[in-house]
Amino acid sequence: MADGSSSSYRNILTKHCETQRRDKNTKAKKKRKKSKKPVVEISSRKDRRIITEYHTLNKTIDSVRKNPSIHKEDKAAQIALLEAKKEKIGGINAYQKASKLGEARHGSFNTAKWVLKQLRAHNVCANRTEGEKLRVLDVGALDDNYKKHSKWIQCTPIDLNPQSNDVVKADFLKLDHKEYDVVILSLVVNFEGDIRKRGDMLRKCPKLIVDQGYLVIVLPLPCLDNSRYLNEELFLSMMESLGFEVFTRRSSKKLSFFMFRRTRQVQVKSFPKKILRKGGNHNNFAIVL
Ligand SMILES: C[S@@+](CC[C@H](N)C(=O)[O-])C[C@H]1O[C@@H](n2cnc3c(N)ncnc32)[C@H](O)[C@@H]1O
Repeated sequence: MADGSSSSYRNILTKHCETQRRDKNTKAKKKRKKSKKPVVEISSRKDRRIITEYHTLNKTIDSVRKNPSIHKEDKAAQIALLEAKKEKIGGINAYQKASKLGEARHGSFNTAKWVLKQLRAHNVCANRTEGEKLRVLDVGALDDNYKKHSKWIQCTPIDLNPQSNDVVKADFLKLDHKEYDVVILSLVVNFEGDIRKRGDMLRKCPKLIVDQGYLVIVLPLPCLDNSRYLNEELFLSMMESLGFEVFTRRSSKKLSFFMFRRTRQVQVKSFPKKILRKGGNHNNFAIVL
């Protein structure tokens, strides 16, 4: 009896221990699962939210600024409120950090990688004399993305608000007539909230790029695919009027990459804001030249 009860007690104890171990393992697995996924998702969602909110606030500030029906004092007050909202989400620093993190996390998107691949594939350095480097201007650069290639690329990375000591503080729109072989505007034109200034950015390019030089423009896909005021045909006509023809291009799930070549002189044409896609489900991205 005593043996029997002690052995059944041992059995119960063993079973209990096993169950506890199993529970512990499942809990640990669940914990591991829980702690892994959401961290990435939440932070990337947070980055995207910061980026989207920042863009929306910029656009709203711009439309308030231009609205003639708002009284001057109200305008200033509304703009101050919107600027304060930008600061509340962390301002330009948080925006740029979020862009940088997004770029790092979604390794598939990296403009520099694509640009380098194209420059190599098309032997862009071929006709240069020995020791002559390719002069590259990277506008809105979060870092010096071409540092590792300084043997053949002399890059000038600029930004309005540099996040790295390697990036020069400068406004692209105020640059002098310098000569570059390649100018890169990756997610910069859409960052500018003023539709005329977006046009000014494009107009600046032929002034800075040498004859037969290259211009890289990266835009979010919806800017061309789903805008009420812009489609690819119109965008390419704008670029053509500025002397650029498409050299190579690609689209990812979210972005359109264009590498243009400066092959002609500028033929001044105006491209006012016009509705190209009717209906409610379109965005308002526009460029006015
Ligand atoms: C979305 S980030 C682009 C980051 C990076 N080029 C990329 O592809 O991920 C846009 C950057 O453009 C910069 N920017 C906008 N207008 C500019 C201008 N006129 N001159 C220099 N930088 C400008 C902003 O300060 C911002 O850091």
